[in-house]
Amino acid sequence: MNFENILFEENENIGYITINRPKKLNALNKATIAELNEAFESAREDHDIKVVILSGSGEKAFVAGADISEFADFSAEEGRRLAAEGQEKLFDVVANFPKPVIAAVNGFALGGGLELAMAAHFRIASDNARMGLPEVSLGVIPGYGGTQRLPQLVGKGKAMEMIMTAGMVDAKEALEYHLVNHVTTPEELIPLAEKLAGKIMKNSMVAVAAAIKAVNANYEDGVNGFELEIEEFGSSFGTEDFKEGTSAFLNKRKANFPGK
Ligand code: COA
Repeated sequence: MNFENILFEENENIGYITINRPKKLNALNKATIAELNEAFESAREDHDIKVVILSGSGEKAFVAGADISEFADFSAEEGRRLAAEGQEKLFDVVANFPKPVIAAVNGFALGGGLELAMAAHFRIASDNARMGLPEVSLGVIPGYGGTQRLPQLVGKGKAMEMIMTAGMVDAKEALEYHLVNHVTTPEELIPLAEKLAGKIMKNSMVAVAAAIKAVNANYEDGVNGFELEIEEFGSSFGTEDFKEGTSAFLNKRKANFPGK
């Protein structure tokens, strides 16, 4: 695959998807969103990839937002379409991805950048990271799920404050508000993501995928998460991974999951 705006590679069962427009602080233009969609669809099909680490190129930014130069002269209808297509092609794809997606936030994560990090299943950050939803300072509101996912993560009051002030929080504050799970140095950021990915990959990835689905059900309108959990729990009993996991435990050996 030939990408112009992102890097995509696989190594030791990890798919590394890196937004690669460092001169524009990795701002998300239409082409980048299309390439990210393609990379995620390819990671979905690639059996070698078990976990995805999503990050930004360079030392300064994860993603500094949607590309403002692209939508500055949009009409209301074009704006509506921008948000709808972005959510469908990228943000919802990431949030509902059947393999864990870890966002490694390596600098500014603003606007669409923070929204992308929030769509990931969890986030870690470097100590130079700064996060915020500055859209109202541009006369718009977050359009890639930010008004929904930020309150889910940090609570309504803090989300309202962040969105209304258009301010940024640093990595330490982001940790306090549960926006990120861990903070480390920029050099240790990807190694930490890899360590967490390694811990996940010791488990049944079939069960991990079912767990993602069940947790996400809590945030979906019209879906009863408890019922979906019962369904997914029941289905687990029919997997080869379940047989392997339980028999390994009972035989006091390490499980070697077939991933089926
Ligand atoms: N869209 C388009 N271009 C962007 C961008 C965005 N969201 N964020 C940064 N860039 C571009 C800048 O225009 C600049 O391009 P240029 O060198 O061709 O002029 C380049 O990236 C570097 O950014 P710059 O502003 O010079 O860096 P800085 O260190 O002075 O400031 C930020 C960093 C993040 C504070 C600042 O770039 C910024 O406020 N970006 C916009 C953030 C935002 O509002 N995002 C939400 C969009 S909905």
